[in-house]
Amino acid sequence: MLGGLTPAQFMRRHWQKSPHLVRRAIPDFVGIIDRKALFELAGRDEVESRLVMRGSGRKADWTLEHGPFRAADFRSLPPTHWTLLVQGIDQHVDAGAALLQRFSFIPFARVDDLMISYAVPGGGVGPHFDSSDVFLLQGQGRRQWRTSDQQDLRLQAGVPLKILSHFTPTQRSELDPGDMLYLPPSIAHDGVALTECMTYSIGFRAPTTREVTDAFLQFLPDTLSLADERYGDPDLRATVNPARIGAPMQRRLTTSLRAIRWSPSTIAQFIGCMLSEPKIGVVFHRPESPQSPARFAQAARAAGSVRVDRRTRMLYDNDHLFINGEVLATIADHPSLTALADQRRLRIDQALPPSTLELLHREYLNGALHVGSIGEP
Ligand code: SIN
Ligand code: CO
Repeated sequence: MLGGLTPAQFMRRHWQKSPHLVRRAIPDFVGIIDRKALFELAGRDEVESRLVMRGSGRKADWTLEHGPFRAADFRSLPPTHWTLLVQGIDQHVDAGAALLQRFSFIPFARVDDLMISYAVPGGGVGPHFDSSDVFLLQGQGRRQWRTSDQQDLRLQAGVPLKILSHFTPTQRSELDPGDMLYLPPSIAHDGVALTECMTYSIGFRAPTTREVTDAFLQFLPDTLSLADERYGDPDLRATVNPARIGAPMQRRLTTSLRAIRWSPSTIAQFIGCMLSEPKIGVVFHRPESPQSPARFAQAARAAGSVRVDRRTRMLYDNDHLFINGEVLATIADHPSLTALADQRRLRIDQALPPSTLELLHREYLNGALHVGSIGEP
């Protein structure tokens, strides 16, 4: 898939460094869903979709609409110069989750989602740059990609999407079905449909320091065992400047704040919880007629495996397993569950300890895990 490079070579040479074009990355790739199915997804409330229309290039000529869309919305569109983009395909379509698995040489914690765009000739989102890495895999139809090594990343003002003020392409390639272009962050690019076409974007995520810090400050109160002592000052003296904050008061309050401490293990737990947080808007549903632990174990053995829900984020570090923003367990207690996290599927055999089956049952009740290899919803 990487044009003769091993994953290790690709990561060393290109990841976060330079573009990489691969012809026939997935030979005979025809895509995983057709236009009709994509339009249907774009009609669902829980699916994030956008429609971008491109005019003759003047600033006012870009329009952006957010879904959900009705079938009639698409029928009234012109024959050229628009594109529909649907995010989170991996969360809604099994084949989308399976396609993402092909990129599992990159840690799940870095993966954002699979987006599919459908474009009519001339359609695209305009010259822009993305803040994180992306693999652009061509589905059906042909698309021209122009990229640039320009440093000038200023954006046009007054347009509803990110469009570069100046775009000076230095590379041009036409992608056929199964061809793939990898772009590191901040590379200016523009993809224009040459024919009716579909493009699969495997996108990555990279939090800003600000985002991580904010998340940590929100996580912290749950981990602190703060004394509930009230401020006291038996040594307070009478004052003639009642508005003045005295040094003793500053000292006492500083001492209280110094009690806020965190250990490396608190930070590791925070990192696991933050990175395994499901996407905004994801809601897991309890099974309609939940099985008892014994029936669940029986069904899992009969099916031969369990698998995590498409929307479940499951990760682990040296000590803990994390699932959907929470600590699931220690690895020491449930060593077999690292395989569930890596493969997103676990063979259920007699060797699995009852306590691990209990834990799986709990996640099944939460809707985060299903029996069998193709689960719901
Ligand atoms: C697209 O599929 O049209 C957009 C992909 C991108 O340029 O990031
Ligand atoms: Co882009």
